[in-house]
Amino acid sequence: MSDQSLPRRTAAVIPAAGRGVRLGPGAPKALRALGGTPMLVHAVRAMAASRQVSLVVVVAPPDGAHGVRYLLDEHALPERTEFLVVPGGETRQESVKLGLDALPADVSAVLVHDAARPLVPVDTVDAVVEAVRAGALAVVPALPLADTVKEVEPGAPGEPEPVLSTPVRSRLRAVQTPQGFDRDTLVRAHERVAVSGEGATDDAGLVEQLGAPVVVVPGHEEAFKVTRPLDLVLAEAVLARRRANDAF
Ligand code: CTP
Ligand code: MG
Repeated sequence: MSDQSLPRRTAAVIPAAGRGVRLGPGAPKALRALGGTPMLVHAVRAMAASRQVSLVVVVAPPDGAHGVRYLLDEHALPERTEFLVVPGGETRQESVKLGLDALPADVSAVLVHDAARPLVPVDTVDAVVEAVRAGALAVVPALPLADTVKEVEPGAPGEPEPVLSTPVRSRLRAVQTPQGFDRDTLVRAHERVAVSGEGATDDAGLVEQLGAPVVVVPGHEEAFKVTRPLDLVLAEAVLARRRANDAF
């Protein structure tokens, strides 16, 4: 069998099992509406918009898998996109692992994308997939920082914290998702690196711990993570701008 006849499907795993504590009281974050549509549906559509992605695995809140499946059945997705829903875990790291466990054998490349980044443009998704298909084992979209960053000795809330160092800003990047991986590399990273504390917030970081190379490609400002209430305001504004532009 030639290389070209080997199945090389790309799947996207979307961890969506978090509660969204920092967003404040309400429904689980992934189910909150943006422009009238649940954030998770935006995120699934963002992955399905890439022609390379033929399967989306949604990792739902542990007690919400049925509801999420129903939600996805209700909202239109491209014909070519298959989706699966699995229940998530206590930490993001566990949720991603549960999503990886559900991948069929013919998937060779995996994107991991936060449900909380509903507005990532398809060009960013495609750029990550392309870099993986070109042979990178782990690809991270990222942007230079606007703020200078200081490392501190964390203290009690409200107390001044001593500064330990100021990394050179031009060498720093804020990382986003979707992060793209060779499937076997990411699975190995999740098997080898145990969950400690709140677990890893970044899959590429697990691959780094294996000693495997990780590369950065340009991210996009619209791939920001909806974390705090102000981020919802920004997300609504981005959607409104897209709708206004689409009207022309
Ligand atoms: N996530 C997950 N399973 C968890 C925790 C988080 O699948 N046990 C997902 C979230 O649903 C989100 C992504 O990981 O799409 C990024 O996490 P974050 O932005 O921290 O979301 P939450 O954990 O929901 O928010 P918070 O930390 O404010 O509670
Ligand atoms: Mg969290």
